[in-house]
Amino acid sequence: MSKKIGLMGCGNVATYGHLPAIRDTAGLELHAIYDPDASRARDLASPHRFNVRHACHTEEAFFASGIDAVAITSPAPAHEANVLAAAKHGLPILCEKPLSMSKEQGQRMIEATDAAGVPLYVAFCYRFSPSALKIKDLVAEGAIGDVRSLRLIYNWDCHGKYNQRDPEQGVAPHRHGRMLEGGPMVDCGTHQIDLAQWWLGSPVVNARGHGAWADDYEAPDHVYAHLDHDNGAHTMVEISYGFGHTMKDPESLFLYQLIGTDGVITYDRNIGRFELRNTEGTQTLKYHHEKDFAGMYRAFAKALETGDANNLPTAAEGLRVTDLAVEVTEQVMEARRVVSE
Ligand SMILES: NC(=O)c1ccc[n+]([C@@H]2O[C@H](COP(=O)([O-])OP(=O)(O)OC[C@H]3O[C@@H](n4cnc5c(N)ncnc54)[C@H](O)[C@@H]3O)[C@@H](O)[C@H]2O)c1
Repeated sequence: MSKKIGLMGCGNVATYGHLPAIRDTAGLELHAIYDPDASRARDLASPHRFNVRHACHTEEAFFASGIDAVAITSPAPAHEANVLAAAKHGLPILCEKPLSMSKEQGQRMIEATDAAGVPLYVAFCYRFSPSALKIKDLVAEGAIGDVRSLRLIYNWDCHGKYNQRDPEQGVAPHRHGRMLEGGPMVDCGTHQIDLAQWWLGSPVVNARGHGAWADDYEAPDHVYAHLDHDNGAHTMVEISYGFGHTMKDPESLFLYQLIGTDGVITYDRNIGRFELRNTEGTQTLKYHHEKDFAGMYRAFAKALETGDANNLPTAAEGLRVTDLAVEVTEQVMEARRVVSE
């Protein structure tokens, strides 16, 4: 029998990522959606959009709709309340990243789901890209020997500072919200930090942050994380939301490079290149987009069926990743305070 999924938070990522994936995944049924903004839930539930039986603008109606599991796609500051409510109703949860706004919040979420006996997974959808899964296999096979260094870069403008890229239209709420919630390392860099630990099977034991400001938020908009893993490897994550954030013609830079004792794996989104170079030569690999919501929901469907996490990041992993992103960001802010004193 299909599991009835309810989704909380009918915004951007729900519309392009989660809702189509839930709708199209065998074993899942898109049963209810909730948003405090009634018009958003109503619009997405309509027959010409996702055709959802229950469009709710109160949590009471949502949890009374007969759902078996919850997907949370609300903004990060709302995750804790959404998770606690789902746990209270005994429902398994897949929650968007960043899991929480603080360590304490994350711990409360883990305690509540543990007490309720329900799993809490974090929606790091990058893990489910066939390219990311291939990298995991290549690392495990030793295709580039011992992996010593990772360069994971995503520099972009987070859709730009201004609505429609026109200053007269005002500041765009999307980027503005993400900058207030901790900036690019906390919002986007969490994907890369998660990938580094997951690919290497090795936790980060030491983190240092450096960064710069192209804009005037408290959080830096261009951040470098230098992460030492317990196996001696090093990861550099570079993430920017200030990469031409006022440019009329935006561009981005998205790259993974894994450097080993016997070769290099390169995934370069800018030119669609995914390849392995090692002692045997060069192998061109099938390139896939860096995100895969459908793969993530296939894993969620299986997890609901079997109880096995199936590569889905646990809440403990998600919380550790968020902690690292926050720690690195705070180091950058502290360095600026010291310089300005
Ligand atoms: N995995 C990814 O690639 C990816 C991409 C973008 C965003 N995200 C994450 O997804 C989350 C949502 O981002 P977005 O860009 O869709 O935001 P958004 O602002 O477009 O949408 C959020 C929606 O949640 C609703 N909402 C507000 N408070 C709520 C509450 N208490 N309960 C339920 N819904 C509530 C809002 O009305 C809005 O419709 C964030 O955590 C963000 O970091 C992930």
